[in-house]
Amino acid sequence: MAENPSFLCRRTFVTTALLGLAGCAAACSTAAPWYTPDTNSQADALEVPLSALGPENYVILDAKNFPAPILLARQDQNYTAVEMICTHRGCAVHVQRNRLVCPCHGSQFELNGNVLQGPAAQPLRRYSVQQEGDILHITRSSY
Ligand code: FES
Repeated sequence: MAENPSFLCRRTFVTTALLGLAGCAAACSTAAPWYTPDTNSQADALEVPLSALGPENYVILDAKNFPAPILLARQDQNYTAVEMICTHRGCAVHVQRNRLVCPCHGSQFELNGNVLQGPAAQPLRRYSVQQEGDILHITRSSY
């Protein structure tokens, strides 16, 4: 029986996230904030209130209708949303200070997904972010 690809991706994420947490326990200075968007969101979109970002200027979105958690970050007045899966070989990345770090082979990314250090050569998958008042609309149609 064929497995649902999104299930595989979520299972891979959870497995690698647990491995990453073990490695991150000593290195991560603070726990990253999480936000679970309303499950009534459209299948290819999320609505997130600006207040979810908090003082850290980022939040991890646990979006059930997306294949993996998403890091939503604010830099100045620009918002970015990236999938927290390393583009090298698909491990889950985690937030460590002001960057995303892959525990598998050491790739590092800016919070907007740009590569800081390989072996990953491609940026993290980005989603479109549109602001409407105090709500951010994140869609995956543009990646
Ligand atoms: Fe992330 Fe290899 S899977 S660096």
